[in-house]
Amino acid sequence: MKLKKHLSLTFCSVLFVSIVGCKPYSATAQMASTTTVTEEQMYRPNFHFTPQKSWMNDPNGMFFANGIYHLFYQYYPDGNVWGPMHWGHAISKDMIKWEEKPIAIYPDKDKYIFSGSAVVDSNNTSGLKKGAIDPIIAIYTLHDMTKEKEGKLDIEQQDLAYSNDNGFTWEKFEAGNPVIKNPGIRDFRDPKVTWDDTHKQWIMVLAAQDKAQFYKSKNLKNWEYLSDFGKNIGAHGGVWECPDFFQMKVEGSNETKWVLIQSLNPGGANGGSGTQYFIGDFDGTTFTLDTNFSQRVAEKKAIWLDYGKDNYAGVTWSNIPKADGRKLFIGWMSNWDYGQQVPTLGWRGSNTIAREIKLVKNGDNYSLKSNPVREINNYITKTSKVKLLKGSGTLSLVSEGKIDLAKAIVNFKMTNLKQDSYTFTLSNNIGESLSFGINNTDGYLFVDRSKSGKIDFSEKFAATMTKAILDGNQKEASFKIILDKTSIEIFYNDGEKVITEIFFPNQPFTALSVSSNSEMELTNLEINQLNIN
Ligand code: FRU
Repeated sequence: MKLKKHLSLTFCSVLFVSIVGCKPYSATAQMASTTTVTEEQMYRPNFHFTPQKSWMNDPNGMFFANGIYHLFYQYYPDGNVWGPMHWGHAISKDMIKWEEKPIAIYPDKDKYIFSGSAVVDSNNTSGLKKGAIDPIIAIYTLHDMTKEKEGKLDIEQQDLAYSNDNGFTWEKFEAGNPVIKNPGIRDFRDPKVTWDDTHKQWIMVLAAQDKAQFYKSKNLKNWEYLSDFGKNIGAHGGVWECPDFFQMKVEGSNETKWVLIQSLNPGGANGGSGTQYFIGDFDGTTFTLDTNFSQRVAEKKAIWLDYGKDNYAGVTWSNIPKADGRKLFIGWMSNWDYGQQVPTLGWRGSNTIAREIKLVKNGDNYSLKSNPVREINNYITKTSKVKLLKGSGTLSLVSEGKIDLAKAIVNFKMTNLKQDSYTFTLSNNIGESLSFGINNTDGYLFVDRSKSGKIDFSEKFAATMTKAILDGNQKEASFKIILDKTSIEIFYNDGEKVITEIFFPNQPFTALSVSSNSEMELTNLEINQLNIN
């Protein structure tokens, strides 16, 4: 990146005082000057969920009950790469601060517990209730490694486990498993169960190689195949995995639509693992794409939930109370292209920030918006605001060590955008940087981590710049950016487009600036310090 012109030091320091005050944040300053910095200090996220040790991939079985958000996840406790899959468990009161719990579901020898979902069976439709508490029913894929090694096709089936203590301990449903047998499709996994209130039935969506399949049930134990969707529709650069399917209200109206979230690997928006979505109608049996949406999918090949390389296998929480009514989502903040090589050895894998998904309609077009859950705002300890920041060349937003950029939310709007590039740079004092911004000449948002520190653990990690194509030339643009030591989550125009990426600098990033050849106008700049312990 070429910086055309630097603002004078005086201006920067005056600006800085007005934004964040002068108090140095010792945590970053100390880390930068310590010679033996542990992996923990350097790379363990401050507030994104990570297991204390070992390997984690997909989020699983998320449900809400009694004021607690439960999160399960693909977990291999004995290693830092993928292995025999368990369901790890963590709980939270607000989806921000997580507490790790004992492992929830263990594999039997060579029978791994793959991804799946959980619902609260309030009416005891399953008959598996054993006391006063509503049973929780988990349905997941049982993956048979012995059969896989023998080259068989029927290696995956859907099994049920239930909990009568609110999800803390589980019993496998030995008497009735599998609840869905393998029909002769090798990749046949990741069941997501939802209560379909319109048609009064449980429905399940699962990934069957190159399509999603729908099933229905009255009791969560006997499932009837309904239909499939997606062969030759949308992105198919890899196997379809981890779908989610639910009905949503269109913002500001009483209209409802059905949304299919569909991960695939590889073939994501910017390579490797990625998540697309579809919007349409469901008559209780068949999912039909909305006509306009279908045209857009045909033109663009796919509509993506996130354009970043690091949001995969994400699904939504079940049993969110009607009074709350939000659709709440979390994803695995990594990518199968390099997830097993990232330079954290004691643990591997973290999640995205929990997000609220909204369905919006513009003209005839339906789309999803994602934003961080509002609960994150409860952890803001201080905010510095600037109403208008103007200039060209390079403007400093946060200078060296004055705010802890390893836990911050930065919000701003850009006005009067020219047909030019606006590049934001997070940097440290050993010359490493992560850049992101908007190229308003060629019409895309970008994140470039090619100079962000450790990148050579995988040639796929930083080989290409991540881009999210925008619809034409932008006059203004708003950004919400969540920074957490090794991750950036960019929510553009109120979550219309999202980019989530991880990075591993050799020293913490301590400064943030923006540069352009054109005059820049940042309005309502807000730098929020977060404190989440
Ligand atoms: C997605 C995935 C799922 C599978 C799980 C295994 O990342 O491949 O399809 O159930 O991971 O850990």
